[in-house]
Amino acid sequence: MTASRHLRYAVVGTGMMGVEHLHALRALPDTSVVALCDPHAASLAAARAVVGANTVRTYQNVEQLVAVGGFDVAIVASPNQTHHDVLKPLLESGAHLLIEKPLCITTLQCREVLALEAATRTAASSQRVVWVGLEYRYMAPTMRLLRHAHGGALGRLRMLAIREHRFPFLVKVGDWNRFSANTGGTLVEKCCHFFDLMRLVLQSEPTRVYASGAQDVNHLDERYDGRTPDILDNAFVIVDFVSGARASLDLCMFAEATKNEQEISLVGDLGKAEALVTEGVVRLGLRKNGWFQADEELVRNDDVPAAVHAHGAHHGSSWREHVAMQAAIRNGASAEVTLHDGLMSVAIGEAAHRSIAEGRPIAMSEVLG
Ligand SMILES: NC(=O)c1ccc[n+]([C@@H]2O[C@H](COP(=O)([O-])OP(=O)(O)OC[C@H]3O[C@@H](n4cnc5c(N)ncnc54)[C@H](O)[C@@H]3O)[C@@H](O)[C@H]2O)c1
Repeated sequence: MTASRHLRYAVVGTGMMGVEHLHALRALPDTSVVALCDPHAASLAAARAVVGANTVRTYQNVEQLVAVGGFDVAIVASPNQTHHDVLKPLLESGAHLLIEKPLCITTLQCREVLALEAATRTAASSQRVVWVGLEYRYMAPTMRLLRHAHGGALGRLRMLAIREHRFPFLVKVGDWNRFSANTGGTLVEKCCHFFDLMRLVLQSEPTRVYASGAQDVNHLDERYDGRTPDILDNAFVIVDFVSGARASLDLCMFAEATKNEQEISLVGDLGKAEALVTEGVVRLGLRKNGWFQADEELVRNDDVPAAVHAHGAHHGSSWREHVAMQAAIRNGASAEVTLHDGLMSVAIGEAAHRSIAEGRPIAMSEVLG
């Protein structure tokens, strides 16, 4: 691991999300991509074209990549079910890591990764940054809502409601996302973002999860080797927190005919803040100012380079995540989004799936042990 300012990256998994990271890295100073790793030749070729450097090395598996080395930071953007196995050699390499969400597909696998991280930490790698890619934290309206949440004006935080109404799951390389055995289930795969936001906004830990959900509309007419996808497409999830606050998730994945992909509403005993994430609208209303009064603000993404915007990229949040991670690496600071955060976001999703399957509330202790 080099302590120099320039950071050399390896990207493991060069499909949709790997390429999003490449676009973000291209827009960062003192940054180069030196290696790409993917067993799928078409993904590697497309990613190589984005990097544009003939010098970038390519590998078909992570063991080859680690054996050659020569990178300071590795990004894991391979399918969910591969994270656990690709992380072993990468953690042993001592490099800084950005691991795409979900950290792994089960709480047990996440625990094993945390143990391996501790076991592979050496004097030389004691300052390595291991960061989980829960980048919804870095969407501009959400960041503004977080400021309201923690600024005190709302009083004691009581209720948080997150609605994600969006398009169905996209087509992926090898169709890995059509089966819960690969993804961890929708409430792990997709909704770990929102369970992470709940803990972050409320600054408290979950105690109990109740959920209702099903696969009612999407992918029912698809067949893969004769099998029909088994991925949930709508759910309501309620999470109770130690602080006494409660949070809800309203997920619908056949609701692309909408204006906002995410709407977040946070109510304390003194007021309410809400973020309409796609429109970039953030409102703050205080009860002392009277009924139906709220200040409204348009939150723009002016900080994000145009080249990053041109490639979609989750409203620039992946780029902001890299800016924050690079600052942590260069300043010897800790990860803002830790392995523990990754584990907890998976554990709440796992509890929600179990609540649906068993038709009862699940105590977090049942999942966390
Ligand atoms: N942060 C977000 O909002 C967000 C959004 C989309 C995807 N993701 C995550 O990013 C990861 C990748 O998703 P995607 O949408 O890019 O999928 P994808 O199918 O588009 O790309 C995955 C790539 O990984 C490759 N791959 C498979 N096994 C591999 C292995 N063992 N080592 C290296 N590469 C391997 C595949 O060949 C493919 O090219 C997943 O974990 C997913 O959950 C995160």
